[in-house]
Amino acid sequence: MLEDQAGGPPLNPIEMGMPDKSSIVKRLKENPDYVAAFGTQFGGDVFKSDESAYAAMTKALASFERSDEFSTFDSKYDRFLRGEEKLTDQEELGRVLISSTQFTNCNTCHEIRGAKGLEDGLFTNHKYFNIGVPANTAVRSANGSKPDAVDLGLAQNPVVAGDPAERGKFKVPTLRNVAVTGPYMHNGVFKDLRTVVLFYVKYKSKKPSRQINPETGKTWDAPEVPENIAMTELTSAPALDDKRVDAVVAFLKTLTDKRYEHLLPKEDGQGAVAPAQPVPVNVTPKAP
Ligand code: HEC
Repeated sequence: MLEDQAGGPPLNPIEMGMPDKSSIVKRLKENPDYVAAFGTQFGGDVFKSDESAYAAMTKALASFERSDEFSTFDSKYDRFLRGEEKLTDQEELGRVLISSTQFTNCNTCHEIRGAKGLEDGLFTNHKYFNIGVPANTAVRSANGSKPDAVDLGLAQNPVVAGDPAERGKFKVPTLRNVAVTGPYMHNGVFKDLRTVVLFYVKYKSKKPSRQINPETGKTWDAPEVPENIAMTELTSAPALDDKRVDAVVAFLKTLTDKRYEHLLPKEDGQGAVAPAQPVPVNVTPKAP
């Protein structure tokens, strides 16, 4: 249930890392607007116990997630689909590349069509794959994980109970709003969207320059979990050249909901402001 999910991250030591329900409820009560709204929605007794206040918070989050406001489908791409707006040539090239299975493999996993066709596409097939993401060693040391800890992904889910075939697999995420929701991958190992696209290029390209992570200037780090990598899917299309990499990035930016478009870096590169990046609370951001 969405309610159960909403209750997870605040208390998860490697997500929001709050010690217990009572400290979260205390934080909620610091905001008079929350106190008033909780009272209106759930009755005056809602803050009588931490349990009832916490449950109310998860209900509120879940009903927001179910609302149309949460999935507005009003990005430039959606407006393009409705014939309301044109894509630039570069964005259109990116769209064509991502829509095909001949030029890119993205669509195999980040499915561009939804149940009703293109208009409700979520850019995920809701499946799990190991795509060879390296560990984020900086976050590891900051969140107190053991240095030899391995994030086994899906294999850590009790439902599959350690099945070795699921090691290293993560759910294919949506690409909607991806341009304003860095850092990237489940562990935030890449800061820049272009780096993510180049990460895929390394699998097919034979060029030495494509084996370099532009963020570190060094060879891409080894996959955290070397088993089960989806090599068939990852090598099913030719390596993109720079022009096509940029086109894919430009297209991904068109998947930004209207209300977040102001967070996109400016097109001309002049005075581009990096979007505010959500930082896990227990990680100290590095000085710029
Ligand atoms: C084999 C399936 C597969 C293919 C093919 C694939 N992806 Fe992914 N993609 C994933 C998975 C799984 C993740 C999540 C990995 C993680 O969290 O560690 C991901 C993550 C991403 C992310 C980061 C999203 C985020 O919010 O952190 C972007 C961007 C992305 N993919 C774009 C692409 C593009 C562009 C292509 C084509 C060049 C592509 N993907 C091809 C499965 C795939």
